Amino acid sequence: MSTGREFADLQGKCALVTGAGRGIGRAIALELARAGARVVCNDIDPRTATETAALIHLEGREALPYTADVADGEAVRRMVQEVVAAVGHLDVVVNNAGIEPSSPILDMPEQMWDRTLSVNLRAVFLTSQAAGRVMRDQGGGVIINVASIAGVRTPLALRAHYCASKAGVYGFTKACALEFAAYNIRVNCVCPGVIVTPMTARARRDPDIMARWQREIPLGRLGTPEEVAKVVRFLASDEAAYVTGQAYFVDGGKAMH
Ligand SMILES: NC(=O)c1ccc[n+]([C@@H]2O[C@H](COP(=O)([O-])OP(=O)(O)OC[C@H]3O[C@@H](n4cnc5c(N)ncnc54)[C@H](O)[C@@H]3O)[C@@H](O)[C@H]2O)c1
Repeated sequence: MSTGREFADLQGKCALVTGAGRGIGRAIALELARAGARVVCNDIDPRTATETAALIHLEGREALPYTADVADGEAVRRMVQEVVAAVGHLDVVVNNAGIEPSSPILDMPEQMWDRTLSVNLRAVFLTSQAAGRVMRDQGGGVIINVASIAGVRTPLALRAHYCASKAGVYGFTKACALEFAAYNIRVNCVCPGVIVTPMTARARRDPDIMARWQREIPLGRLGTPEEVAKVVRFLASDEAAYVTGQAYFVDGGKAMH
């Protein structure tokens, strides 16, 4: 019998999604809004952040675009403060923003290493700290980090900085879950496999890479941003009330071994 409530309901919650301007972040923002959350759509690109918020409004849901570079501590603290000032609470944070430049280690400029680690890992710490303080004081919350199978199981050539950053997100997620459990804050991560987004656009144009991926992925196809977003919605909701410190692989089985 239907309870009249949707699965993984987020009615009345406020969710902040970083890197929500396109790709997986946009799909997560839409999915959390459809679950009933008021969604703050962060991106470094004001145009795409506004577009995502407009898509949510078109569906009759609530959203607010917010431009900030998540690698900038001051900007992150200001963003969290302004969200709490406007909405009164912050219940869900999804650390999704990420970059994936390419370089052999032997030629990699230090600046490329530092920026990748800052956007992909330092930002997860900054946002978790700022939001964690709010969540502790309000009695609980949920943090979901977007890591990658590349950080944990299937390293990528020319992406040593990216793999290191995502391995860091995986480790930080578990340590953060341990510390934040005392404050009723659940912390988990998702590890996507190969997902159809602008980040993978160039590789998807190469027929050899596509053929290799199809061979390597037991389900025989790439994933969609929506398929990652559904798992994030579950983790964000009370359906996952007893789940913390976990990594969910959303990869068609690519990294199961
Ligand atoms: N696409 C994949 O196959 C895949 C696989 C595993 C993990 N991931 C991870 O998923 C997340 C989203 O990836 P995607 O494929 O949607 O990427 P994408 O490049 O399509 O989108 C990333 C978004 O993050 C924003 N962003 C970048 N730097 C930012 C910053 N400093 N502050 C705020 N926003 C910033 C970008 O403007 C963009 O809108 C990333 O963390 C990525 O590493 C992606």
